[in-house]
Amino acid sequence: MMGDKYEKNCDMIKDTILEVQKQFKEALAKVQEALALEEIKNTFLGRKGKVAGLFSMMGEVPAEEKKDLGQLLNKLKIELQSDFDAKVSEFTSSTSKKEWVDYTLPGYSMPKGSRHPLTQAVDDMLSIFQRLGFDIAYGPEVETDWFNFESLNFPPNHPARDMQDTFYTEGGGILRTHTSPVQTRYMSKHEPPVRIVAPGRVFRNEAISARSYCLFHQIEGLYIDTDITFADLKGTIELFCRMYYGKDVKIKFRTSYFPFTEPSAEIDVSCFLCGGKGCRVCKNTGWLEIMGCGMVDPNVMKAVNYDPEKYTGYAFGLGVERMVMMRLGINDIRTLFENDVEFLKQF
Ligand code: DAH
Repeated sequence: MMGDKYEKNCDMIKDTILEVQKQFKEALAKVQEALALEEIKNTFLGRKGKVAGLFSMMGEVPAEEKKDLGQLLNKLKIELQSDFDAKVSEFTSSTSKKEWVDYTLPGYSMPKGSRHPLTQAVDDMLSIFQRLGFDIAYGPEVETDWFNFESLNFPPNHPARDMQDTFYTEGGGILRTHTSPVQTRYMSKHEPPVRIVAPGRVFRNEAISARSYCLFHQIEGLYIDTDITFADLKGTIELFCRMYYGKDVKIKFRTSYFPFTEPSAEIDVSCFLCGGKGCRVCKNTGWLEIMGCGMVDPNVMKAVNYDPEKYTGYAFGLGVERMVMMRLGINDIRTLFENDVEFLKQF
């Protein structure tokens, strides 16, 4: 009788081992959060858990069965523990990747970009000229001698053609030394009336210093039609200056010389910083030189097959860097080309 009971006990323990193993695996598979792991640990592996309960039944097992059963139980305990540990580490590593966020950290800043001061100035000026009825035209930076000089009435030995001032490309092209070639390029493709402004980069082989750089920007203007006079030029430039510098600005035309205009003038505006009283920016003269201009020379008209008896026109060319430097109080032209963000941020 006793033997029977023992045998039943042994079979029951073996069944229970399988049952506990099954329950444990099911419970572990369902775990979604760390707290639930704690419960499983208590239920199965704790001091009063199911595995411990099985061990305590060993007392009722006959000596000859103890070894086998003991091994089975140990195997169970080791297996459950290692499954459990695996689950714990799976859990902690995945939650650390997914959920570990420090909400107290400051956010990422998204610095706002801005247009370069030269681009801003060009855009502002172009939009004024557009409101005055000018179209925008562009020309190439690598020019031919004909467009850059010849068509603009430069005499063959004019000093501006000198190797010192002009960059030549290997193929015999030249880097345009001003935006004036856009005038004759445009005229050679369009019949009058012509009313354009042409912004762009120009290049000069000069010693680089705080005041001059090997490249800078100009805006060219050209208006050709029948009966255009110097008064039209004056009116347009005055209007432009008032729109750009403010209505109180004073304007002065000084006679000058350019091969492609006759008569020619240079334009000064009253210093916007001191209002004409004299300061560091205007070198105590009260005036700032801003552009060259004049009536288009008949020889330029002839170069593009316009009839100089029928058409007249004016042209002007302004330097953008000088204007921007005066406006923003920049005293070294090179800073406008270095693209140092710390410098540009100021504007
Ligand atoms: N091209 C001249 C320069 O670079 C500027 C200039 C003067 C342009 C008079 C003009 C003009 O159109 O009429 O110095």
